[in-house]
Amino acid sequence: MSDQSSVFYRGVTQTYPTAKKSDGMYIFDHTGKQYLDMSGGAAVSCLGHGHPRVVQALCDQIKTMSFAHTAFFSNEPQEKLADLLASKFAEPGAKVYFTSGGSEANETALKLVWQYWRAKGQPGRKKIISRTHSYHGNTLGTLSASGNLPRRRVMGDVLIDWPRIDPCYAYRYQQDNESDADYGVRAANALDAKIREEGADTIAAFIAEPVVGASLGVVPAAPGYFKRIREICDAHGVLLIADEIMCGTGRTGTFFAHEHEGFLPDIVTLAKGIAGGYQPLAATLARRHVHETFVQTGAGFSHGHTYVGHASACAAGLAVVQTIDDENLLQNVNSVGAYMQTALEEAFADRPYVGDIRGRGLFRAIEFVADRQSKKPFADELKITGRLKQASMKHGLICYPGGGSMQDTLGSHILFAPPFIAKTAHIDQLIGKLSLVFEDVFDD
Ligand SMILES: Cc1ncc(COP(=O)(O)O)c(C=O)c1O
Repeated sequence: MSDQSSVFYRGVTQTYPTAKKSDGMYIFDHTGKQYLDMSGGAAVSCLGHGHPRVVQALCDQIKTMSFAHTAFFSNEPQEKLADLLASKFAEPGAKVYFTSGGSEANETALKLVWQYWRAKGQPGRKKIISRTHSYHGNTLGTLSASGNLPRRRVMGDVLIDWPRIDPCYAYRYQQDNESDADYGVRAANALDAKIREEGADTIAAFIAEPVVGASLGVVPAAPGYFKRIREICDAHGVLLIADEIMCGTGRTGTFFAHEHEGFLPDIVTLAKGIAGGYQPLAATLARRHVHETFVQTGAGFSHGHTYVGHASACAAGLAVVQTIDDENLLQNVNSVGAYMQTALEEAFADRPYVGDIRGRGLFRAIEFVADRQSKKPFADELKITGRLKQASMKHGLICYPGGGSMQDTLGSHILFAPPFIAKTAHIDQLIGKLSLVFEDVFDD
């Protein structure tokens, strides 16, 4: 839009095309230009655009009961969606708290763990251990729990500086002579060391993404990592929060991303795909023992926002999750996801600037390097991440480039999170467009 606009844009000096229409796998701007949506924005549009079932559910809900504050009433969509999510969690009795976005869901998780420990008579357990290269949200609490340096730096010392450990990131940290399983255990043991160093009685929770999304570019953990993390948390009485804002809701081929890893977190957060972008919605699922603590001690849980459990947001979420189930879309996530990995490898694995192609389900990424042998990243001055975004938009492709996977701002990757309705023909289209993008950015 023009610089006459009154909008305070995200990029204050940037101009953006106006999105006028969206349909299935595509978004169209004000000039009629078509964009293939291969990242659902930031892993949001899991059903693609304009899915008739979700649109209908939303219209019906708004006509029937548009809003009733959840301090006064419950509503049918939130009841049904909570039941559905709880039924998908491996342990019965989980309870679900609905908010409007990922940051709110994680902020809710932080408040849950602090108030849980107060209720248990251990108010000294306050610190949240997270991992470097992590992003858990943009509120002061969730940014404090995030390791992403560029995002933290601009906030100066306003943020709380909680302890962090390295992520489980085999491409950069696994040693040559180390098996995947040995690396998984070694990476997890960093948590044990950190808890001991800080004192277990000061630690409230550990938070991590089961598959790291934007901060590293789709990095699943090494086998056994999360099982060992669970053991360590149990040994020290620390709560475990799985941030599945990006990787959950079926994105990696199981409804919850932690299902692949065979562990149960105490709290799981979901957003983005949960209402597929049709409404702002997020969820914080707490295991039975967490919820019961608030009930049995009489402490209650002090929290809330005006739009907690919003009926039309939950109606959209319910329609999205039911559609994923009824259309058996996780099967498509797995099969088209596998096709996508092979297609990306066949097209680009040999390129000198491609370090790694990885992911799970319909959640994939390419990490770029200046030198494949040493894995040295491109210099910051080359602005690879920004140029990838620009070139993608130019070629009518929506994907999600990111930086900082090596250290601070160094390292670049491109993330793909296509809608679960994607077909192999869309992946072929992606490969064609990416070739043009790489020609522009890497002078292929
Ligand atoms: C893993 C993760 N957690 C939390 C958030 C914050 O979510 P939101 O932007 O909806 O506040 C994001 C957003 O990208 C995310 O990727």
